Amino acid sequence: MVRAAVESASPCGGGTGTGSAADFIPPRPTLPKLREAATRCRGCDLWTCGRVVFGEGPRSATVMFVGEQPGDQEEQAGHPFVGPAGKLLDAALEEAGIDRKTVYVTNAVKHFKYERGAKSARRIHKKPNDTEIRACHPWLEEEIRLTKPRVIVVLGATAAQALLGKQFRVTQQRGKPVKSELAETVIATVHPSSVLRAPDGERERARNEFFADIRVVARHIAKA
Ligand code: URA
Ligand code: SF4
Repeated sequence: MVRAAVESASPCGGGTGTGSAADFIPPRPTLPKLREAATRCRGCDLWTCGRVVFGEGPRSATVMFVGEQPGDQEEQAGHPFVGPAGKLLDAALEEAGIDRKTVYVTNAVKHFKYERGAKSARRIHKKPNDTEIRACHPWLEEEIRLTKPRVIVVLGATAAQALLGKQFRVTQQRGKPVKSELAETVIATVHPSSVLRAPDGERERARNEFFADIRVVARHIAKA
């Protein structure tokens, strides 16, 4: 009984990560080659957590959205941003007049990190740590190198840490272009999950602010 309880509460992981996804990047990568190679990635311990969810979208995308990591529904579907946070992102894109089919959507970390609830089998999201974010970075780097988006949208603190450094504060710098070598325009905003998690009295404002940031993105796409 005790053993089962400990096991059920422990996160996935505890595997045998090599320390970097760079060990799994194929020679002369293309997006399809990367996607295929990522299914064998053991760059960090999260490879034991389920299926890898690689970025999706056309190579010619002008804009790339970078989230944290796939969630429960994304892991099951094998596609990024298809769960509740994805639906909110879709709504914000639609309202801003951005066609999701034309954007590249990906995550800083490509495996869903979770722990099991003590009382149910539900998989509870866990934030990826510095080691996992660093280990997974080569995939994101390759995605950016191959798609060369003119606009990169950083969704939340984990993506900001991966692309803009740990000192970057999304709450202070959201919604305006930040200096970066990564692309012509790099804009950070909150993660759509944070809007969904906001307390009842604050959710509407959080949603409006998120939508406003995505409208800023749309204006920059139009300029690009
Ligand atoms: N949250 C993310 O950061 N990415 C997804 O793909 C889904 C939810
Ligand atoms: Fe590889 Fe990234 Fe998955 Fe870690 S999270 S195993 S680095 S794909």
